[in-house]
Amino acid sequence: MAKIKYIEFNGTEHDVDVPNGLTVMEGALRYTIPGIDGDCGGACACATCHVYVEDGWFEKLPPMEELERDMLDFAFDVADNSRLSCQIKVDDTLDGLVVKTPARQY
Ligand code: FES
Repeated sequence: MAKIKYIEFNGTEHDVDVPNGLTVMEGALRYTIPGIDGDCGGACACATCHVYVEDGWFEKLPPMEELERDMLDFAFDVADNSRLSCQIKVDDTLDGLVVKTPARQY
């Protein structure tokens, strides 16, 4: 279980407990957090789960696979701290993770 803070583009914050084994994208859908769509269900084929990883967490996450890196090219307004949240699996080490959603996913 990890407490994850999702921050919408408008600044609205959601602090939720996400069970181990879910992805950060699945955690957002479980709590109906706006701004993360996850259209492909986590297959790394849509880039609608794009988030910005905040507060120094980017370096602590497992590195991106090539497929995620390629798919990120299709995301809107990509930055150095961009990740696809369906590729981040939740476990205890992610307790305190902060992610922010982009202005839009398309
Ligand atoms: Fe489609 Fe993440 S949910 S790429």
